[in-house]
Amino acid sequence: SKQSEESLRSPICCIMGHVDAGKTKLLDRIRGTNVQEGEAGGITQQVGATFFPAENIRERAKEINVDIAKLKVPGLLVIDTPGHEAFTNMRSRGSGLCDIAILVVDLMHGLERQTIESLNLLKSRNTDFIVALNKVDRLYGWKTCRNTRFKEALERQAKDVKNEFYMRLNQVITQFKEQGLNTDLYYEGNMRERYNIVPTSAITGEGIPELLWLLLQWSQKTMVEKLTYSDQVQCNVLEVKVVEGLGKTIDVVLVNGVLHEGDQIVVCGNEEPIVTTIRSLLTPHPMKELRVKGTYLHHKEIKAAQFVKITAQGLEHAIAGTSLYVVRPQDDLEGIKEAAMQD
Ligand code: GTP
Ligand code: MG
Ligand code: NA
Repeated sequence: SKQSEESLRSPICCIMGHVDAGKTKLLDRIRGTNVQEGEAGGITQQVGATFFPAENIRERAKEINVDIAKLKVPGLLVIDTPGHEAFTNMRSRGSGLCDIAILVVDLMHGLERQTIESLNLLKSRNTDFIVALNKVDRLYGWKTCRNTRFKEALERQAKDVKNEFYMRLNQVITQFKEQGLNTDLYYEGNMRERYNIVPTSAITGEGIPELLWLLLQWSQKTMVEKLTYSDQVQCNVLEVKVVEGLGKTIDVVLVNGVLHEGDQIVVCGNEEPIVTTIRSLLTPHPMKELRVKGTYLHHKEIKAAQFVKITAQGLEHAIAGTSLYVVRPQDDLEGIKEAAMQD
């Protein structure tokens, strides 16, 4: 119904895959930013997040020749995860929060160790995902077709290039089969019967239009129930961080509900529950990364789904990966403190 469409929250999409498959670069391509080149050693070492308002997605889609009809979700919250083997905990945290995922596979390497690890995390949580088969521009002799739908770009390639593509694609499809999964190109056969592969280039932009389109179509058509907004706060601490001028802060993903400045909250601490009051609610600007230093937007209140930086007293012993609870006047504080420490 109209009512339920209006109360949908933004889907949360997690990007996962092996180190250097191009996860951050793909996001840069979509945002029009350059976060990846600012990373130490070009390696993502913490979870990042970007909010794409529906309107921005539409504009961005138009620039790359996709016409997206009216969006029913307020936007898309995208979580970038590290692919380096040292960061399994962050991949696990990220994948635990998302409604859908993009699994990035390097076309030149096929499935790698952390691709399979990510795959298993998604399988274990029954999370649907789209495969971005990235770096198609690295096929020998590839002719760049900037921001073009992949199918069209492939048609314009020489025969050898097409052959090499299909050979590599088939290897990847076989590797997925070995993991027990049916995959195919998104434009072949019935999209609903398997996991869809979108070949992409984060550098030259082929395939990016469909990636955006598929994400949005998918979330609007198949997830209404899961995405129906609820007032019940569901909020998870991603990281505990010191920020110059702000002190200890926590970065949270607000999956559902509303947070207000001045709300009393309970978070799991090292030894005991932390009961404190939200001093400020901060977000990066739309289409920007929370990890990148810059100005924050201040909010009196904020509605799910969002990625929020919270400042409050006493957060130094907060533990990442746990839930954040809001205490309303009628709530039983002792019960909430106990629940918080169970995490
Ligand atoms: P981690 O977060 O460290 O796991 O890596 P990542 O998956 O985010 O990969 P990243 O975006 O850091 O890209 C790794 C390297 O691959 C960088 O040098 C990118 O410029 C390059 N790269 C990413 N995507 C593409 C692509 O589509 N084509 C080409 N040619 N290079 C790419
Ligand atoms: Mg990265
Ligand atoms: Na990298």
